[in-house]
Amino acid sequence: MNAAAPKALQVQAPDYVKNPQLIAWVSEMVALCKPAKVHWCDGSQAEYDALCQQLVDAGTFKKLNPAKRTNSFLACSDPSDVARVEDRTFICCEKEEDAGPTNNWKAPAEMRGILNPLFDGCMAGRTMYVVPFSMGPLGSPIAHIGIELSDSAYVAVNMKIMTRMGRAVYDVIGTDGEFVPCVHTVGAPLAEGQADTTSWPCNPTTKYIVHYPETREIWSYGSGYGGNALLGKKCFALRIASTMGKTQGWLAEHMLILGVSNPQGKKYHVAAAFPSACGKTNFSMLVPPTGFDGWKVTTIGDDIAWIKPQADGSLRAINPEAGYFGVAPGTNMLTNPNCMNSLDKDVIFTNVALTDDGDVWWEGMEKDTGFVPEHLIDWQGKDWSPAIAKETGAKAAHPNARFTVAATNNPALDEAWDDPAGVKIDAFIFGGRRSTTVPLVTEARNWTEGVYMAATMGSETTAAAFGAQGVVRRDPFAMLPFAGYNMSHYFQHWLDLGKQVESTGAALPKIFKTNWFRKDAEGKFVWPGYGENMRVLKWMIDRIEGQAQGQDTAFGVAPTYGEINWTGLDFSAEQFATVTGIDKAAWAEEMQLHTTHFAQLASGMPQALLDTKAELEKRLAA
Ligand code: OXD
Ligand code: MN
Repeated sequence: MNAAAPKALQVQAPDYVKNPQLIAWVSEMVALCKPAKVHWCDGSQAEYDALCQQLVDAGTFKKLNPAKRTNSFLACSDPSDVARVEDRTFICCEKEEDAGPTNNWKAPAEMRGILNPLFDGCMAGRTMYVVPFSMGPLGSPIAHIGIELSDSAYVAVNMKIMTRMGRAVYDVIGTDGEFVPCVHTVGAPLAEGQADTTSWPCNPTTKYIVHYPETREIWSYGSGYGGNALLGKKCFALRIASTMGKTQGWLAEHMLILGVSNPQGKKYHVAAAFPSACGKTNFSMLVPPTGFDGWKVTTIGDDIAWIKPQADGSLRAINPEAGYFGVAPGTNMLTNPNCMNSLDKDVIFTNVALTDDGDVWWEGMEKDTGFVPEHLIDWQGKDWSPAIAKETGAKAAHPNARFTVAATNNPALDEAWDDPAGVKIDAFIFGGRRSTTVPLVTEARNWTEGVYMAATMGSETTAAAFGAQGVVRRDPFAMLPFAGYNMSHYFQHWLDLGKQVESTGAALPKIFKTNWFRKDAEGKFVWPGYGENMRVLKWMIDRIEGQAQGQDTAFGVAPTYGEINWTGLDFSAEQFATVTGIDKAAWAEEMQLHTTHFAQLASGMPQALLDTKAELEKRLAA
């Protein structure tokens, strides 16, 4: 037991909490973690305001200038606690094979043996917040409930924005409804009488982000940042939910969901998977460019999709989240005006820079106006100026700096974003970040080929979350850090789901693969990206409608130059060839990499994907 730990409290649940299993679990966790106080969050605005003020008083939050950013705050984390910690993230199921080779694994009993002593007294001197949340619209048949216990008020207020958090959740679970228990501690207990002197408590040496899929539990120790601490997001909505989906026959995916309406008002819904920091938020809030009068793109979600097959064979999807925890650097009025317009009020910023007039700033914000402040306080509290940056390379904002903002702030929010029935998915997109080889867009000739395209996705890493930059890392389905079970079994699950839909006689959604990031011989991006991606999206819709014939290539059906609407964009046939060309030598090398990738995943690899690989190799050789 931690030396600091006092005796455990008696738990007194509010009378509206009627679930004995929940109360027993909270009591058990209070006995283990030994907080000084327990606060049952009701999710009210008054509670949010009081917790934000408490965070200001503790020095964790700075209130921003209300004339610039109404009711908004800046938090700066400990420099050791700035991103998800994939090497400290564990899937603890009974059999190692079930976690698969892409996850860190430990047997549950062994992990409990490590965690129990760490959690014993871990909240001493702090308040335990009981945070009830619904992932998805309250009561939706696609939604699920979680309860997070956390000793971080920062987590409680972020969860209020990121989820449907509050009292109404207890009505959904009633006396015997299911919930996923999630326990989180910053891992920084306070001895009796010890004041908290840090504005970002965390454990500098010990971090564990642990999932027990079989018992559907999440235990997180030592970090207060993002996906490590806001347990509804990656831990529940992807890792635990993907295992629930596997056993219950649905999908939990690292996908944005958007609605796209044509000038006649016909609407389509697309779910798109891109690895972290590859522009999912931008794509989900896309503003159609010149040449697309009457077209509209609306956001259902920017990061996660829960997709459940219906009896009629349709796949209906919800965004389980209620807010965006987006990467700030690079966001500006050119790359994502809807996002910038979402950030005027009621925002929590983390690890961006502070301007002298109490506003925020980050690298890339200047791209539209060219304005870079003369002086800032950087995310580590140091003076920053363009001259300092030039001399030392110091970033004003951490590359993984974030904003937390409610979906309802988004001017492009889809009217069905909160519909309990979800939306019907018409197409899936899988997109990596590749400077070579992978073409701008191709359509899979069938579901299995689409699963193959997604299973072999690769992406060059960026600075946002991972060490080395520019290295191609295979990120199947953009789920490498998020699949809660064996990746090959996950591929099989996608194949099975396709069969299940086909058996109803319904048409499967089309599957497309994209790459916005091809570079020319000078190393410059060729495709303009951002709003111009609408041109590709429109071609996809034309394919759905049977209005574009496309051309068969070794790697799927591609658009011809003439099938893309170029109005308003000067993009030559030569440039188009640069981003769409299939270089046979590069593809021969690529297929070698697929071989290595599949060898790593050999145990449980579906034969259908090996057959598809052989088929593609034959086409490439032809
Ligand atoms: C995210 C991520 O924060 O994918 O969404 O890392
Ligand atoms: Mn993500």
